[in-house]
Amino acid sequence: FFLIITSSLSQSNQFCDAGTEIPSSKLLIKGGTVVNGHHQQMADVYVEDGIIVAVNPNFRVGDDVTVIDATGKYVLPGGIDPHTHLDMDVGFTATVDDFFSGQAAALAGGTTMHIDFVIPLNGSLTAGFDDYEKKAKKSCMDYGFHMAITKWDETVSREMELMVKEKGINSFKFFMAYKGILMINDELLLKGFKKCKSLGAVAMVHAENGDAVYEGQQKMIELGITGPEGHALSRPAVLEGEATARAIRLADFVNTPLYVVHVMSIDAMEEIAKARKSGQRVIGEPIASGLALDESWLWHPDFDIAAKYVMSPPIRKRGHDKALQAALSTGVLQLVGTDHCAFNSTQKARGIDDFRKMPNGVNGIEERMHLVWDIMVESGQISVTDYVRITSTECAKIFNIYPRKGAILPGSDADIIILNPNSSFEMSAKSHHSRLDTNVYEGRRGKGKIEVTIVGGRVVWENNELKVTPGTGRYIQMPPYSYLFDGLDKKDAIYLNSLQAPVKRAKAST
Ligand code: URP
Ligand code: ZN
Ligand code: ZN
Ligand code: ZN
Repeated sequence: FFLIITSSLSQSNQFCDAGTEIPSSKLLIKGGTVVNGHHQQMADVYVEDGIIVAVNPNFRVGDDVTVIDATGKYVLPGGIDPHTHLDMDVGFTATVDDFFSGQAAALAGGTTMHIDFVIPLNGSLTAGFDDYEKKAKKSCMDYGFHMAITKWDETVSREMELMVKEKGINSFKFFMAYKGILMINDELLLKGFKKCKSLGAVAMVHAENGDAVYEGQQKMIELGITGPEGHALSRPAVLEGEATARAIRLADFVNTPLYVVHVMSIDAMEEIAKARKSGQRVIGEPIASGLALDESWLWHPDFDIAAKYVMSPPIRKRGHDKALQAALSTGVLQLVGTDHCAFNSTQKARGIDDFRKMPNGVNGIEERMHLVWDIMVESGQISVTDYVRITSTECAKIFNIYPRKGAILPGSDADIIILNPNSSFEMSAKSHHSRLDTNVYEGRRGKGKIEVTIVGGRVVWENNELKVTPGTGRYIQMPPYSYLFDGLDKKDAIYLNSLQAPVKRAKAST
């Protein structure tokens, strides 16, 4: 059956049956500028049965083909969001966006795939995977999984192997923060990194010094600073810089690639810059909120407004946003995520007397593509090819699903968006497709509008109307040993060769 969400319907999304329309499986996108991560050209894109068949100028087709006119517009690979939390249970509550509503929102904003974080169940990776497999059954776009590592023992180590070899997971996130809940110490981090390396899986870190954050929180509460601003004050950028530097050095010691999620500060970004300059394979992922916002909202006198900006690591002072943008434009940082983690105002109100009790997270899955276009392309900081690279292609390469995803090439999945650079967008909780009752980008306008989203060869977003079907999204298995691992074994061998044989010392004479 077929469901429609009309974008004019607000607050709680309403779904209605649109009948039995069967979309054409043959599609021609005519007259646009087709942009990939490396190249752009005027061309038509021909799609059959969900796969791109041809990318050619002046492609001729029969009248059984649906034709979409893209004259004067950009035809781009659909966005891939490397960092989301849909239907995430945090013990006392769960995020309001599940795999259907979150993905519907994503599609309305030009994102056609995302990678979500599986949270282990009672420490079991297998149980966590089964749980997320069920949650994702209602998907209306393709998705992949990272796996969070929340403790360490032999079972976890064995299960990591199972996840990579049998479940299509090629990345694991380690938490250096959330003391007493998710945080693991350096000894365990090292063991985890070594395991990742042995499996060809990317090690990811949430980099904040959890012990110091805990101290900072105690201090704020003692000072009577219990509001949302206490959240920012308790975990300053220096703690993000410290943990980022530590993770980078441990990954260097192990000689394995490292992916730093949600880079929010100059402090963390500069550690990544330094490591990359020395030749180390470190990937830095800024997120939409870090590029577009600053911390001043956390001081807003209206608690409900301030609370919606609480996330970890915190949104930083003005200046960090601009520095992260510059790092993205110069290749110091490589791709943009969102960390979409939606809690409504009732859920946020849990922390009204104590910021430590507030569920952390902001929206972004629907807004990322427009924000990055407006902030990065319209400001002249990056080209359209760079836009494609940082919103789609690089993610597909890092997680080893390129060129099936992240490209408009013959043989690639037909996940395509059409962006009109002469139109504009406006963001609001009243018109967005997420189930959130708030939006951290409320009232924001900008240039560029994603007018059409095609996912798996089906047009799902057109004329501001969304037509999405639960159960049409597929799980995308991601194989290990992405390009980040190329040549690492040679580097290991050179290192081993460089070690001198044990020094032969004469027996000491008495
Ligand atoms: O505040 C955040 N970021 N919530 C989601 C969990 C995480 O650390 O990514
Ligand atoms: Zn209807
Ligand atoms: Zn995190
Ligand atoms: Zn996250």
